[in-house]
Amino acid sequence: MKILVLMLTVVVISEVCLVGACRSYCGNITVDYPFGIRNGCGHPGYRDLLFCMNDVLMFHIRSGSYRVLDIDYAYQSITLHDPHMSNCGTIVLGGKGNGFEAEDWRAPYFNPTSDNVFMLIGCSPKSPIFQGFPEKKLPCHNISGMSCEEYMSCPAWDMVGYRQPGLSSGSGPPMCCAIGFESVKAINLSKLECEGYSSAYNLAPLKLRGPSDWAYGIRVKYELQGSDAFCRACVATSGTCGYESADGGGLRHVCICDHHNSTTNCDSVVAPTSASSSVRPKTIGSLILYFIAMNIRFKRRQ
Ligand SMILES: *[C@@H]1O[C@H](CO)[C@@H](O)[C@H](O)[C@H]1NC(C)=O
Ligand SMILES: *[C@@H]1O[C@H](CO)[C@@H](O)[C@H](O)[C@H]1NC(C)=O
Ligand SMILES: *[C@@H]1O[C@H](CO)[C@@H](O)[C@H](O)[C@H]1NC(C)=O
Ligand SMILES: *[C@@H]1O[C@H](CO)[C@@H](O)[C@H](O)[C@H]1NC(C)=O
Repeated sequence: MKILVLMLTVVVISEVCLVGACRSYCGNITVDYPFGIRNGCGHPGYRDLLFCMNDVLMFHIRSGSYRVLDIDYAYQSITLHDPHMSNCGTIVLGGKGNGFEAEDWRAPYFNPTSDNVFMLIGCSPKSPIFQGFPEKKLPCHNISGMSCEEYMSCPAWDMVGYRQPGLSSGSGPPMCCAIGFESVKAINLSKLECEGYSSAYNLAPLKLRGPSDWAYGIRVKYELQGSDAFCRACVATSGTCGYESADGGGLRHVCICDHHNSTTNCDSVVAPTSASSSVRPKTIGSLILYFIAMNIRFKRRQ
């Protein structure tokens, strides 16, 4: 038993040493490639995005700061919470919510998922989303089985005071309009002239029982845009993927190795500039060499 514990301890310790220079934790959330909370860690497309404050992981973009609830590395998604977002228990009005709008250069790297519904609340009849109404069709529609009709059955609506006359009554634009991110590209409450918003996402292909069961938050999909090949090659040689300033002023990928940084991978020959700092061979490699050498000597003696 003691031996087993000892072995497990060794395994755990070596795991910790192997996780590399960049993986870290914030509260109970693992921050790993392509994200990083240390400067120079992760993919440059996700730089200056995540911050760890008192064990709370924050996601910061142009529209504001969000608490990160979860990062799902297998499905490449990240779930955010905005404290000024409405849910089934509270309706927040007064245009205080962040919505979701990222800097233009970030658009290729992440966007809310297609099964995430944004429910815009109390938008002005002059709102850009209602342009052309009632002649033109409203952009409002159900997303992954979640609709404003259902959302408005939440108890919080009783307290707000304005119940809508019904989407089909034709008396004006609806009090709540459900849209996907793709149709507007930016959830900016002041630009869209809305009082508030809610956001929910559907994880399971199951029929949800109702809006009190929905998962409220903003589900964002991140994509690596094919530049993952660099990182795969780096990791395959026990490196950690990061970035650094290039001479021209931009940023470039860098593979952070044990004793040097490489612009390719850790097995590549070290550039002449840093050749003086001798690169030690990998421990396992030297052990193998040692055993081969011992074996040869042993055979010679026989
Ligand atoms: C390698 O790059 C990382 C991230 O840019 C940096 O923090 C580190 O100091 C660099 N190491 C060397 C040996 O240059
Ligand atoms: C939202 O829209 C307003 C008005 O168009 C604009 O001034 C503001 O900068 C936008 N907010 C963000 C986060 O882009
Ligand atoms: C982190 O812990 C909180 C409770 O403290 C829990 O609700 C949440 O699901 C946990 N998140 C992860 C990713 O484990
Ligand atoms: C949206 O969902 C509501 C309630 O679930 C349903 O009554 C309505 O027919 C749906 N509308 C569309 C366009 O699917």
